Order: sequence, then C-alpha cells, then structure tokens
Amino acid sequence: MKLLILGSGGREHALAWSLAASPLVDRLYCAPGNAGIAKDAVCVPIDVMDFARLIAFCKDERIEFVVVGPEAPLCAGIANRLEENGIAAFGPSEAAARIEGSKAFMKELCARKNIPTAASGRFTDPAEAETFIARLRQGGRPIVVKADGLAAGKGVIIAATPAEAMAATAGMLRGDLGSAGKVVVIEEFLEGEELSYFALVDGETVLELDGAQDHKRAFDGDQGPNTGGMGAYSPAPIATPTLKARIRREIAVPLVEALAESGARYKGVLFAGIMVTKDGPKLLEVNCRFGDPECQVLLPRLKSDLLPALMAARDGQLKHLSLQWRAEAALCVVMATSGYPGSYKRGSVIRGLDAASAVPNVTVFHAGTKAREDGAVIADGGRVLGIVGRGPDVKSAQTAAYAAVAKVDWPEGYCRRDIGWRAVPTLPP
Ligand code: AMP
Ligand code: GLY
Repeated sequence: MKLLILGSGGREHALAWSLAASPLVDRLYCAPGNAGIAKDAVCVPIDVMDFARLIAFCKDERIEFVVVGPEAPLCAGIANRLEENGIAAFGPSEAAARIEGSKAFMKELCARKNIPTAASGRFTDPAEAETFIARLRQGGRPIVVKADGLAAGKGVIIAATPAEAMAATAGMLRGDLGSAGKVVVIEEFLEGEELSYFALVDGETVLELDGAQDHKRAFDGDQGPNTGGMGAYSPAPIATPTLKARIRREIAVPLVEALAESGARYKGVLFAGIMVTKDGPKLLEVNCRFGDPECQVLLPRLKSDLLPALMAARDGQLKHLSLQWRAEAALCVVMATSGYPGSYKRGSVIRGLDAASAVPNVTVFHAGTKAREDGAVIADGGRVLGIVGRGPDVKSAQTAAYAAVAKVDWPEGYCRRDIGWRAVPTLPP
C-alpha cells in the first residue's frame, strides 16, 4: 500500500518508524516530516493545513491511506476532506475532533453521561467568571483556567489565587490567545497522579492500548513551566487492569457513546488525560490524536502490525482485532532547545546522533530537526529529539535512554534527568 503520514514531530517519527516496518506498506510518505523521518519515509514539503495541496498530492501519488498525526488539521476537517475525495483517512471527523477542539463541548458530553471530571463552568462574561471563581475558591486550592479552543499548549493556567485566575480569564476573553480564548472554561483543581489513557475507536468499539505517563513540566522534580511533554514511559505502573477497566467503563465508553448520540461517530485514537484522585479516575482533557511523547514509548512496545489496527479503526472493524504487546518497558527522554517552552534559537548543530542510535536497545526519534545542505542535522524547534530506551523494566529502559543521551553532542540542548521517577524511585546514573 501507499501511505501518507501528516505531521513533523516525534510522534510522527514514531508512526513512520512503526509503519515502515509493516509488510503491507510499499511506499511511505510524510508531509512535511523532518530529518529523522526522512530515513523511514519520503518527506514532501506540504504544510499539514494546506488541504488543497495535500489532496492533490494524494491523488497524483494514488495514496491509499492517510494517517493524521496532529490535532490542528483534524479539528479543521482534514479527515472529512480526504474521505470526500475518496482517500481513506485515520483520524476523527471535524465534528468528532471537537472533543479536543472545544473543552466546553467535552464538558457538555461529560455532564450528559455523568462522566467523572472536574467541576467547571463556561464563560464569556468576566463578571460571571468572577462570581464562579469566588465560589470555586472554597478550600483554598488553585483554580484552573482553560481557553476553550486549541491554543498550542498555552491554553491552561493553574492559578494560585482568585486574582491570578481572574487576570488569566480576562486576558483570554480579551483575545490574548486569539479565537481559542473567546470562551473560557474555569474548573476545580484536581489532585492526584496523571495517566495517559489511549484507545483506538472505530465509531463503536473501544480497543484499549497500553498505558503511559508523561512529564509535562520543563524541569527536574516536575518543576517549571508546562510543556508538550519532556519524557514518557510505558507501561505505567499506576495503570493496573482494575483502574483501566474503570476508566474504560466510566469514561471512555460513555464518551464514545455521547459522541455518537451527538451525531459524531468517533474514529481514531482517543487520548484521555486522567487524574487518578483519591475518589477514582477523573477526566482532565481529551485529545483526538496520539500523545507526544507517549506515542514514542507505546509503538516500540507494540508487537502487532500497526497498520491493520489503524485501518480497522477507520473501517469499523475493531471488534475483530486484538493487539499484542511486548512485555518490555520503554522510556523516552525528550531533548529540547535551551529556552523551550519560552523563546529559543533555531539552527544549532546536533552531533553524535549515530553514536546515540548505536547504543543497544535505543531508538532516536526526531521531533524538531532539519537537514542542512552540508548534511548536518540542525535543531528546528523546541522539542527536538526523543531518545527511547527499552528494557525488561522501566529502570533498564531509563538506563539505556540516558546512555544514549550522553552520546548526543548538542551544547544548545537540555533534557530532564529524572524521566520515569514515579516508576523508578532512584535517580538515573
Ligand atoms: P490540558 O491541556 O487540559 O491537558 O492541561 C494541561 C495540564 O494541566 C494537564 O496535563 C494537568 O497537568 C494540568 N491540569 C489541567 N486541568 C487540571 C485540573 N482540573 N486540575 C489539576 N491539573 C490540571
Ligand atoms: N504529551 C501530551 C500531549 O501530547 O498532549
């Protein structure tokens, strides 16, 4: 088959690496891809939001299946546009992707099905928001302020005081985040441990993937600003079969039902961000795509061919499928450009990538890289590399990943030194 992957991050490199190994794939393209993806797929320089050019490319090249990585094209309807043009696509329709594209919509579905989630309100008027914030504040816990729409990771503020919450709300309503913040969702702060729950969904059947946990804060000890994710590991010790069964029953299945009842059958990956509280699992957010860097640790553990699973999700055939997982663990350390998630410079040269890839049980996924004309690999983004180690347990996966990190010669980059600490109580070497 001829396949096209959309996206250019570490998640898309993991997808390309996994799909390139499928005996069913004859030719694999990625738009726009990156320097690492270029080893597994033919990169084509088309932006993921340029639907007209993407569709023309698919027709010219007779692409049979498109795997969409990021949320922005899904929320803008790429799956609909492809299918209307006779091109099969993996990923939810525009209507179903609203589960990520609008936090207020997600909360409405939760309310309809009694899905456990943080108590919240939806606001367009600052005065009404202020009254709600004063009420939520009871108990002295922080207040969470979220832009309703997609805000590229900048849409969630954990405010320590009502004044801070009000300032964040006012800024969003004033247009600081563009149209994403025209509606603001304000919610109670949940305490507990976070878990990333993934399932493939075909409109009806929910086929669970293994669990993963990521580290969202930039610095060691889960300190510093929120990022897209500085590392991840799978399996997640917290995701016991009992907990996963409860998340499936109380959250994933009712969500998929609520979507279908609202006229938006969900097909694709359902990624639920869960807070495991003392009262049980509660839904923090829903994403309509694989997590990044969770995808980089899930796919190396998948023994089954990924392609038939993605196709079965699109074709409504998941009830006939089961997935095999390797018993081993995987852990990903993200290397980012200094300054990320704030401002950073592009163009620094990264050396030592071959030596890092040569470390046993290691795969180096590229996230924000570009090949310079002279062949050098340069940093071209905030999160730049995802170094994945594998091993019989999380500790040995961590040891392998950090051994490869040590081979990367990139003075302008940084990484956390404690990825996996919840699963491995001692610090890495
Ligand atoms: P989101 O984009 O909704 O995943 O939010 C980003 C991060 O903010 C989450 O991964 C959590 O760490 C944190 N967060 C979001 N909502 C809440 C909440 N209600 N209580 C505590 N932390 C939250
Ligand atoms: N790692 C979290 C995300 O992909 O949103």
